Amino acid sequence: MDFSEVRADFPTMRKGGGVYLDSACQSLRPDSVIRAIVEYYESFPGCGGRSVHGMSARVSAEVDETREALASFFGTRDPCCYAFTRNATEGINAVASGFGLRRGDAVLTTDMEHNSNHVPWLRLSETMGVERRYAESGPGWEFDMESFKAAMDRRVKLVSVHHASNVTGRVLPVKAIAEVAHDLGAAVLVDGAQAAPHMRVDLGRLGADFYCLSMHKMLGPSGMGVLYGERERLEALSPLCVGGGTVGMATYGRADPAPLPDRLEAGLQNYSGIAGTRAALEYLSRVGMDGVEARDRELMRLIFKETEDVRGLEVVGSPDPDERLGAFSFNIGGLSPHDVAIMLDRMDGIMIRSGMHCAHPMYAARGLEGSSRASTYLYNDHGDVRRLASALRKISEAFGDR
Ligand code: ALA
Repeated sequence: MDFSEVRADFPTMRKGGGVYLDSACQSLRPDSVIRAIVEYYESFPGCGGRSVHGMSARVSAEVDETREALASFFGTRDPCCYAFTRNATEGINAVASGFGLRRGDAVLTTDMEHNSNHVPWLRLSETMGVERRYAESGPGWEFDMESFKAAMDRRVKLVSVHHASNVTGRVLPVKAIAEVAHDLGAAVLVDGAQAAPHMRVDLGRLGADFYCLSMHKMLGPSGMGVLYGERERLEALSPLCVGGGTVGMATYGRADPAPLPDRLEAGLQNYSGIAGTRAALEYLSRVGMDGVEARDRELMRLIFKETEDVRGLEVVGSPDPDERLGAFSFNIGGLSPHDVAIMLDRMDGIMIRSGMHCAHPMYAARGLEGSSRASTYLYNDHGDVRRLASALRKISEAFGDR
């Protein structure tokens, strides 16, 4: 794959809009995704699954085809096991509120979760007495299977873990985690927000009962996410939101739930977002997820090599580039992460994220103010990495600890 051609598909890149290294937060979008969104508004801006006129039928077909594209992209058969959400956070909340956890049940996560996979469980512990447990990471911020096993028992009804960390980029052994959880009768929810954009995810084999993702991190529209679940798991889920579209028949006294996935999608949906989602999946499929992952890994190795001589640079997480999926988090001695990010942007047009990356507990527990984070995607190139490294050298020489 010639990735220099990929850059030309992104309007922001064509316009020379700076060096974008913040894709773990939100990715850029290619022409085909933008066209699909505009095409919906220009040509068939109706609703799906309701009116019977031709325009609406086209929307319904688009929705069905996007679900089929999801099933094929993630290696499963049943398109009805994919419900549209606003983002991965909403998917996690849907499981937290609808899974049926009760006082005395326990939920186990790692101690490295993003707030989206932390706060919903904290709320359940505060409001319902659900016990909150954490598998502690090792000294190098790595997942520790022994700590996970030690925290597991039959009171744990749900294990909820990230697939890849938004800070360290480390990929968790989800299959092995799921085996342990299932042996003790727990279901497994995976926050795939940082993994699904960067690697092939085969939901038919992963072992997750639920999987959530955000399309805005994988070339798709803002405000679009997906909740996947095994059929019986989704059928047992009490919907987060109910109303139009979620019922078969309703009388004054009762409402019969609609079949999957409609029962989980209340009200009119984000149809332009659904059209853009399909275009994003098609784009990634054309490039190939193995190629996407290989590109991220190549760029990460180069980042490590090029920043070797940046004085005072400390990497957050593994020092092995092959253990990081597109996320390079670091600090420079004597400088606040936000100052580094502002200087990179103002002096060199390099966009990164800084702070605690919505993973406050793991930074606070380690006494860190946060970190800067450069994150890559398929449209980045060696020139972007070299500009980052050169700017970091200048910043550290001028302002870092002496
Ligand atoms: N979770 C997103 C990030 O890491 C917002 O930037």
